[in-house]
Formats: sequence, C-alpha cells, structure tokens
Amino acid sequence: MTESANPSFTGFPNVRMRRLRTHTKLRDMVRETELNPRDFVLPLFVRHGENKRVPIESMPGHDQMTIDHLAAEVEKIELLGIPAVLLFGIPETKDAIGSDACDDNGIIQRAIRAIKETGSNLLIMTDVCFCEYTDHGHCGIVNDKHGQPDVDNDATLEILVQEAVSHAKAGTDVIAPSGMMDGMIAALRAGLDDAGFENIPLLSYAVKYASAFYGPFRDAAESAPQFGDRRTYQMDPANGREALREVELDVSEGADMLMVKPALSYLDVISNVKRAYPEIPLAAYNVSGEFSVVKAAAANGWIDEKRTALEILTSIKRAGADMIITYHAKEAADWLAE
Ligand code: PBG
Repeated sequence: MTESANPSFTGFPNVRMRRLRTHTKLRDMVRETELNPRDFVLPLFVRHGENKRVPIESMPGHDQMTIDHLAAEVEKIELLGIPAVLLFGIPETKDAIGSDACDDNGIIQRAIRAIKETGSNLLIMTDVCFCEYTDHGHCGIVNDKHGQPDVDNDATLEILVQEAVSHAKAGTDVIAPSGMMDGMIAALRAGLDDAGFENIPLLSYAVKYASAFYGPFRDAAESAPQFGDRRTYQMDPANGREALREVELDVSEGADMLMVKPALSYLDVISNVKRAYPEIPLAAYNVSGEFSVVKAAAANGWIDEKRTALEILTSIKRAGADMIITYHAKEAADWLAE
C-alpha cells in the first residue's frame, strides 16, 4: 500500500495501532492492567442481635448481618479468593461519645473475635471512626466551642486511640482510621505502640472527600449526621492538590498504607498520590454510591453490570490503586473466574 492510499498513515514506518488489536490472544498478552480477586477488600456490616440478615435496600446483595452469620460468610469470601474484609459495626445503642466503639465487648470487637475463632486466615481490616456509634452521627466528640457545634479534633484523637487499641486487643489485623481528624495517624501509631501493638499496620483514609456518593452507606451503617454535614473535616471535592498535603502529613506521621475515597470521581487524585508515593501501598474505596448507581442502571436494563463493574474496577487499578475496597468484590471475583 502506498502512503497516499493509506488514510490512517501516522508516521514512518507505517504505524497502525490496530495491529495489536486483531487477535484476541495478542490483546490478552499486551493488556497493561489485570484485575485479580487478590486486589479486593469486601466491606461487611455487622449488626447487633441474633440470626438476622437485614437487606440494605440501596445496596442490592448486601445485608447488615449478625455475628452468627459471619462464619459462613467468611468461608464464601475465602473460597472466592478475596483476601480481606473491612468491618463496620451497627451497635445496639448509640450515645454522644460512641461508647460501643471503645468497648472490648462492642459489636466490632465481638465480630473480630468471631471471625478469628473460625480459624480463618482472612485479613481483617477495621474502620476506626465514630459516626456509626454516636447518636449525632458525627465522626467524633462534638463540642460547642464557638457557638457552633463542631467535632473537637484533639478530644476525638484520644477516643480514637482507645477504639483502635480495643480493636487490636480483639485481634484485628489492620486499623483503618476514616474520621479525617488532623494528627490521627501520629496519635494512633503512638497509642498502638504504647499498648504493644507495634506490628499492626495503619491504612489511613488519608484523602477522604465530603462526597454525596456515601448516601447508601449511611443507610447501611445508620450513620447519617443528625445535624450539619461533614465538610469541616472531610475534603472539598474540588480540591486535588490539597490531597497531596494530606498524604504527605500521614506519611510523615507513620501511615503504612494510604487510601483515596471515593475512587471513580477521583481517579486523578489516585494517580497523583501513586506518583508522589509509588513505594507506599495505595487503596481506593469504590464507595457505596458508586456501587448503587451501577446496580440501579443494571436493574433497569440500561447497562451491562458485569462489563461496567469490571471496567470501573480496572480503571481504578489502572489509575494506580494497589487494592480496591469494593461492594462488587464477590461478584467481580466470580466474573474473573469465569
Ligand atoms: C466513616 C465512613 C464512611 C464510609 C466509610 N467510612 C461514611 C462517611 O464518611 O460518611 C463510606 C463508605 C461508602 O460510602 O461506601 N466511618
């Protein structure tokens, strides 16, 4: 073919990008990003009570489950090759300081022990925060310092340490603080070390935005703020450069792993954080609303759920995430095994 007869000619020699796309096996061989069930962390909601699975309406396929259901659930998760769960608790009673969160017999502490007692080798990550445990639904102690109620940063650090140490005593493997308090990583590292838990890693929700995509989670965890919102501690979705300051601080305070949350609307942030700290494992949280929009569209027959979910998860990994916390973990692991 002469140069002029080839309208797609893009240089010398005759470059054709499509050559590598013609054979399905070659496409497989040149694929840059490959999802693996090993990349996934599955969030689980553990509730008080007995022998109950309460479906979470806005998150099809997910339930609040009582502790007695955990053993069977964990077995399924391990069979799918998913290495880790992230536990959230829904306590029987809430109060102003979220006491259940720090109680050695609290819902999460009992859930951790129940999973460990099965002999399972599943990695347990626990979310360390207060919004599921406080009656006001905020992520820490609320004080009325300047005529306006707000979460008291330093008072919250103290109870965060109590909560984390209590999780560690129950046997958690990874502590994931999500409250966006300043200094939380330094405080938790010191507190855990003092209590003899110097080997428990901290996965910091370093970059967490005040996002509308958390809506379904707040139904699931019964943790919607009863007044105001979380904008005085979570980040403004408009800010990308600020994410690098958050990350730099958490790294200097001793974070072992970092997280960007949500994932899909923040792929640029994931990419920038990975570039700034390629040596630090990076998690991305594909949050509840990101899951529910896919489910809702699929239920209407408007998109192909499998292809859409796998495309989203692949894009999150391609952006730079080393692990993905996702409500699609079980289905995606199944699809990948097909
Ligand atoms: C806070 C926490 C939240 C999520 C995880 N940890 C909610 C919030 O900040 O309001 C949201 C996760 C999701 O939407 O899937 N403990």
